Amino acid sequence: MKIVAMVGSVRRESYNMKLVRYMQERYSSEVEIEILPINELPFYNEDEELNPPELVKILREKIKESDGILFATPEYNASIPAVLKNAIDWFSRVEPVLVNKPAMIVGASMGVLGTVKAQLHLREILNAKNVSTRILPGNEVYVGSVHQKIDEYGNLKDEATIQFIDSVMDQYIKWVERTVEFETSY
Ligand code: FNR
Repeated sequence: MKIVAMVGSVRRESYNMKLVRYMQERYSSEVEIEILPINELPFYNEDEELNPPELVKILREKIKESDGILFATPEYNASIPAVLKNAIDWFSRVEPVLVNKPAMIVGASMGVLGTVKAQLHLREILNAKNVSTRILPGNEVYVGSVHQKIDEYGNLKDEATIQFIDSVMDQYIKWVERTVEFETSY
C-alpha cells in the first residue's frame, strides 16, 4: 500500500514532520509513506491553473497513484497553516485529485488541545465539493504537549500515544484496503 503525506509545516525542527517521519519508519512493512514537498509549491494562482507549475503536475500524479493520504497539521491561529491550504487549493482545481481519496489526519502541537481547532477546519475543507476527501471515521489523532513526547532524535517516546497511533494506523490500513477492494470490484 502506498500513501502520500502532506505536512503543514516548513519548520526545520517541525514536530509534525517528525511525527510523520516516525510513522514512515514504524509502519514501513505495511505501508509506504511518501512525503510530498508541498512547501515548494508556489502560491495558488488561478491565472496559472490551466498551465500549472511542473511541481503541481508531478504531485497530482503522485496523489492519483496513491491509495490514500496522510495529513499532518500544526495549528496556526486556530486553523491550518497556509502551506497546507495552498496545496489543497492546487489539488482541488482543474483535476480534483483528492476526490474520494481515503485520508487520515494527525496533528501535533505544544498546547494541550493538540490541534483540535485546526483539524476541525481541515475536516470542513476536505469536505468542500472539489476536495471531497474521505476521512477515516471515528478516529481523531491529537498529539498535545508534543514537546514532551518526541525526543531529540525525533522518536515518539510516549507509550500511550504510540499505542493509540498504532491502533488508528491499523484501522486506517484496513479501511483503505476495503476501499480499494470496493472500487476494483466495479
Ligand atoms: C502557533 N501555534 C499554535 N498552537 C496552538 O495550539 N494553537 C494555535 O492557534 C497556534 N497558533 C500559532 C500561530 C502561529 C503563526 C505559529 C507560528 C504557531 C504553535 C504551534 O502549534 C507550534 O509552533 C507547533 O510546534 C507548530 O508545528 P510544527 O512546526 O512543530 O510542526
